[in-house]
Amino acid sequence: MLNRTADTLLIYIFTGFLSSLSNATCNEIFDFIIIGGGTAGLTIANRLTELPHITVAVIEAGDKVFNNPNVTDTDKFTVALGTPIDWQYKSTNQTYAAGQKVSCPAGKALGGTSTINGMTWVRGEKAQIDSWETIGNEGWSWDELFPYYKKSENFIVPSPAQLAAGASYNSVDHGESGPLKTGYHPELLNGSLHGLVETAWKSLGIPSTIDANGGDVRGFTVEQQTLDPDANVREDAARAFYYPFQDRTNLHIYLNTTATKVIWASNDGDAIADGVEVTSLNGTVSTINARREVILSAGSLRSPAILELSGIGNQNILDKFGIPSKIVLPGVGENLIDQPNNAIIYNSSTIFNGTTGYVTYATAADFHMGLPSADDLPIWAKQVAAANNYAVNASSLEYLFKVQSELLKSVANAEVFLSTGKGLGLPPSGFLATAFWLLMPFSRGSVHIVSSDPLAYPIINPNYFLVDYDLKIQAAITKWVREFWMTAPMSSLASEISPGYKTLPANATDAQYIEWAKTSSAMMPRRLGGVVDNRLKVYGTANLRVVDASVIPFQISGHLTATIYAIAEKAADLIKADIK
Ligand SMILES: Cc1cc2nc3c(=O)[nH]c(=O)nc-3n(C[C@H](O)[C@H](O)[C@H](O)COP(=O)(O)OP(=O)(O)OC[C@H]3O[C@@H](n4cnc5c(N)ncnc54)[C@H](O)[C@@H]3O)c2cc1C
Ligand SMILES: *[C@@H]1O[C@H](CO)[C@@H](O)[C@H](O)[C@H]1NC(C)=O
Ligand SMILES: *[C@@H]1O[C@H](CO)[C@@H](O)[C@H](O)[C@H]1NC(C)=O
Ligand SMILES: *[C@@H]1O[C@H](CO)[C@@H](O)[C@H](O)[C@H]1NC(C)=O
Ligand SMILES: *[C@@H]1O[C@H](CO)[C@@H](O)[C@H](O)[C@H]1NC(C)=O
Ligand SMILES: *[C@@H]1O[C@H](CO)[C@@H](O)[C@H](O)[C@H]1NC(C)=O
Ligand SMILES: *[C@@H]1O[C@H](CO)[C@@H](O)[C@H](O)[C@H]1NC(C)=O
Ligand SMILES: *[C@@H]1O[C@H](CO)[C@@H](O)[C@H](O)[C@H]1NC(C)=O
Ligand SMILES: *[C@@H]1O[C@H](CO)[C@@H](O)[C@H](O)[C@H]1NC(C)=O
Ligand SMILES: *[C@@H]1O[C@H](CO)[C@@H](O)[C@H](O)[C@H]1NC(C)=O
Repeated sequence: MLNRTADTLLIYIFTGFLSSLSNATCNEIFDFIIIGGGTAGLTIANRLTELPHITVAVIEAGDKVFNNPNVTDTDKFTVALGTPIDWQYKSTNQTYAAGQKVSCPAGKALGGTSTINGMTWVRGEKAQIDSWETIGNEGWSWDELFPYYKKSENFIVPSPAQLAAGASYNSVDHGESGPLKTGYHPELLNGSLHGLVETAWKSLGIPSTIDANGGDVRGFTVEQQTLDPDANVREDAARAFYYPFQDRTNLHIYLNTTATKVIWASNDGDAIADGVEVTSLNGTVSTINARREVILSAGSLRSPAILELSGIGNQNILDKFGIPSKIVLPGVGENLIDQPNNAIIYNSSTIFNGTTGYVTYATAADFHMGLPSADDLPIWAKQVAAANNYAVNASSLEYLFKVQSELLKSVANAEVFLSTGKGLGLPPSGFLATAFWLLMPFSRGSVHIVSSDPLAYPIINPNYFLVDYDLKIQAAITKWVREFWMTAPMSSLASEISPGYKTLPANATDAQYIEWAKTSSAMMPRRLGGVVDNRLKVYGTANLRVVDASVIPFQISGHLTATIYAIAEKAADLIKADIK
């Protein structure tokens, strides 16, 4: 989402709306085709079909999961991972993370990754969203996006019992009439744990936050979630944006249907998307035509591959697989940024029966980590450019790193999530766990096709810890999380069982922390990658947009769905403005 003057990362540029009546070669034709019925895709489908004269088709590789308990059960996070509703992508061996091959889950169902994710609802920092405009995306700032954050949301205010258990909110930060229910877990733990955790963080200088969704996330809070607290059911994109609207006759969903590439009209000038080639489960290949636009919302691990299969991307990659080049855009599939994750597990003699979802966001200063120096940035930029075959050049990266480095002075760069066994989908037990993430890594990876076979999985390389500073941050967070557990009253509540002091001594050196962080990252990925222009159009096309996680230029100190819903809401308005 960078403009051309900013650097090569700007791969997608808006070139003006063009409404072309296509030469339909097939009887299935719609005004808009959305590839991917996921988090972003269903939001746009919903908003576009508010216009009764507009027809929309959504192409989704997965099926409906309306009654799948692995989706609906609010206590079953991670249960669906590795089942058929997860694409089950794998990364390449991670050279800088002890060679680990990491699982890259992604939802394959109507509702996309929102059907299998951790349901945390947090937008990120105001300064982070403002930085999108800084790097050249006019119209993309916190103030511009804030109404859209609220538009998607139907915040269910906490019950008195939930308030007593630590829930708190600012009503000005929430929408209460959008389609997506959010709120607090109905089984929020109502015992003493909240106060104990709060006290320990306070001793470490971390204040409590009333509401992390107002653009300032630093502090300790009880997480808000994408769920329906009354029904105690996960609120995924389909439950919010599709099922209540499924009788709209201008909305058609193709399930079990994989989009393989965009079909182009033969014309001069900007490329015009005529339709989409799809493959059904039985192997039948057919075409669905678009009168107005094709919108790519297949997620950050798949949208770049669909662009490449459609002839948009790095010429070398397209040539290697004999794909005729339509538009040369070397940035496609680059700038994949993912947040590495580790966990420490404790055992307590007290059995905590409810769920928790306590989160703490902290800046580098909070966890005793220095900021990058100005000298570091050009070195890292060269290193990252080289690791990605210079698809994005070092001077472009250095510019982005400067913006990121400036942000790190104020924004949270660590998230620490504390949960009971139940909150982790385990039976009630004495388990308490902290999972923690580095939020704004400098490392960058890529995702590309490895074959011209459109059903082959792309090759995913997040390049975890490519930049040494990222590893130092993750080690510093680890050390700080242990400091928390060693602080009263936590110190007398629980004892560490993983990694345990035998593996990682209480007095471990920084080098030992670094080694541990590198070798034991669970790497629960939250990835994003790629970039677009300020109307989300693919550079050189008249009518192909990308709207999903892959348009976000930097990681955020939050989780992605809130921001993806807001982006999709805004994209729908941009598209509607072009219709009239
Ligand atoms: C394990 C995990 C936990 C997470 N936890 C949280 C969390 O707690 N809170 C949070 O906010 N975010 C979380 N996230 C991130 C968040 O859920 C995702 O970033 C977000 O849902 C992605 O939205 P999207 O629209 O970009 O893609 P998706 O929602 O993944 O949608 C893409 C859709 O496209 C479909 N598709 C892909 N390729 C094709 C094709 N070729 N043809 C047809 N259809 C196709 C997919 O099946 C999918 O339905 C988590 C992510 C993961 C993996
Ligand atoms: C890097 O890429 C940008 C954007 O394409 C370009 O303007 C700049 O000249 C490039 N810099 C170098 C040193 O090649
Ligand atoms: C739910 O997940 C479990 C594995 O965790 C799997 O065995 C089961 O088949 C899944 N259920 C459905 C309905 O997919
Ligand atoms: C990845 O790592 C595995 C196990 O360490 C090894 O067997 C395999 O050869 C590696 N693959 C590549 C492409 O290096
Ligand atoms: C506390 O939580 C338990 C289990 O979630 C519930 O049974 C009980 O009613 C709750 N008590 C209060 C006062 O909310
Ligand atoms: C999708 O495919 C699955 C697996 O073959 C099948 O069980 C299901 O009925 C199909 N759904 C639709 C809507 O055709
Ligand atoms: C394959 O599946 C598609 C979609 O369900 C259907 O329209 C088509 O008739 C099927 N073709 C064959 C040969 O079974
Ligand atoms: C956890 O603590 C309980 C009670 O103190 C104890 O019985 C149990 O053995 C411990 N479990 C582990 C894995 O340490
Ligand atoms: C949790 O439930 C168990 C039995 O179900 C009970 O013995 C225990 O006291 C409860 N723990 C708390 C903290 O309420
Ligand atoms: C850590 O403590 C152990 C004993 O508790 C001691 O043997 C060791 O030297 C200490 N290591 C460091 C780095 O201080």
